[in-house]
Amino acid sequence: MKIIFATGNKGKLAEIRAILDSDRFEIISMKEAGFSGEIVEDGTTYEENALIKVRTVRKYLLEAGYPGEYIVMADDSGLEVDYLGGKPGIYSARYMGEDTPYSIKNQAIIDALDGVPDEQRGARFVCSIAMIFPDGSEKTTRATYEGIVAHEAKGTNGFGYDPMFYLPQCNATDAEMPIEFKNKNSHRAKALKQAEEIIAAMY
Ligand code: IMP
Repeated sequence: MKIIFATGNKGKLAEIRAILDSDRFEIISMKEAGFSGEIVEDGTTYEENALIKVRTVRKYLLEAGYPGEYIVMADDSGLEVDYLGGKPGIYSARYMGEDTPYSIKNQAIIDALDGVPDEQRGARFVCSIAMIFPDGSEKTTRATYEGIVAHEAKGTNGFGYDPMFYLPQCNATDAEMPIEFKNKNSHRAKALKQAEEIIAAMY
């Protein structure tokens, strides 16, 4: 089955290709499928934003006459920091400006929690996956990945906020863990596995 994934984020695409079973799914990015337009993510939840992405890309593919059967899939994800009242949340990509380097965004969050004890540094990544099937029906899934805000950004694996996302049980940040660990345990991995189970039950 072809899956056309509605993201322009190379870090996410690499994770999705590593997580989904490559024997069963051919993952095609929206760019490879010919979509280069803008998607206005003006939803108020992860699910709404993920659905906006899949609906926008599917509309384009139908109008462009993209051949064959395919599922359009997208994720919307974000980081929620308890001490910041759940921010940046659905605005994680736009937090402090879309083009601001993550080294600066990560340090700003660490600085905002200066002196805050570990019990109050709780944070989680949240991911919702949306799918539109060939018959036009839609489904969403959601999963979370729990950690705390690190005292210092560390590591080079992954992307985005990974260097400031500390996993106490691993004594390391997400960006210090082997990529295989994240691809098994992360919010995106778990939400994608749920999506795979939904697909398996349908086909
Ligand atoms: P989206 O592309 O609109 O879903 O934006 C999600 C944003 O949340 C990303 O650009 C990152 O800033 C952040 N984010 C989501 N998942 C992760 C992750 O696995 N690691 C690090 N940052 C993430």
